[in-house]
Amino acid sequence: MSPSDRLFARVREEVKRKLAGASGCHDFDHTLRVLANARMLAAQLPDADRQVVELAALLHDIARPEEMESQGRLCHAALGAKIAREMLLQMGASEFTAAAVAEAVRSHRYRDEVEPQSLEAKIVFDADKLDSLGAVGLGRAFLFAGRVGARLHNTDEEALNAPAYSREDTAYREYLFKLRHLPGAMLTLPGRTEGTRRLRFMRRFFDRIEAEIHAAAE
Ligand SMILES: [Fe+2]
Ligand SMILES: [Fe+2]
Repeated sequence: MSPSDRLFARVREEVKRKLAGASGCHDFDHTLRVLANARMLAAQLPDADRQVVELAALLHDIARPEEMESQGRLCHAALGAKIAREMLLQMGASEFTAAAVAEAVRSHRYRDEVEPQSLEAKIVFDADKLDSLGAVGLGRAFLFAGRVGARLHNTDEEALNAPAYSREDTAYREYLFKLRHLPGAMLTLPGRTEGTRRLRFMRRFFDRIEAEIHAAAE
């Protein structure tokens, strides 16, 4: 095993341990899917540093548990960047690798004042957003809606006029407010292309829900 493979394996174990109790929307499975997305994007962007991309994808949500515990007072991207840097240096990574990974972790958040600058940070940003789209994105949106006790579906009007965490905070509300805008916010061409493809599937899914609900009511 090469030193970089060994480092990757150690980080993977540490992240798995840390996210063991996380909720279904941001657990270790989410991290593994983001890693797979990041590898897929990096394969199409050969200038990217693969090691930085993979470590940053693994570590991007490392501080989710702290953010949850603090009920949102702590930012998991800012704290995660600090934790990632310290962990990597302690495990023998170079200062360059630790700093590049920390930058990508710091800037992965949607609607944050810190925007991704490096190609590696842009890839991790897009890889994370891809997990909110397509069939996986639908599954995650329904998991979240179930947790807050929301309805299965609602109309545009009901969804758009309702606050978050209400009974109207449906998967469809998440789609209207956030998910449908994600491909346009993506920062790499392969990210945008795949995001658009996944979004199309979601649109078809909601059209189909509408059709079934109206057929049942007749
Ligand atoms: Fe995150
Ligand atoms: Fe994430």
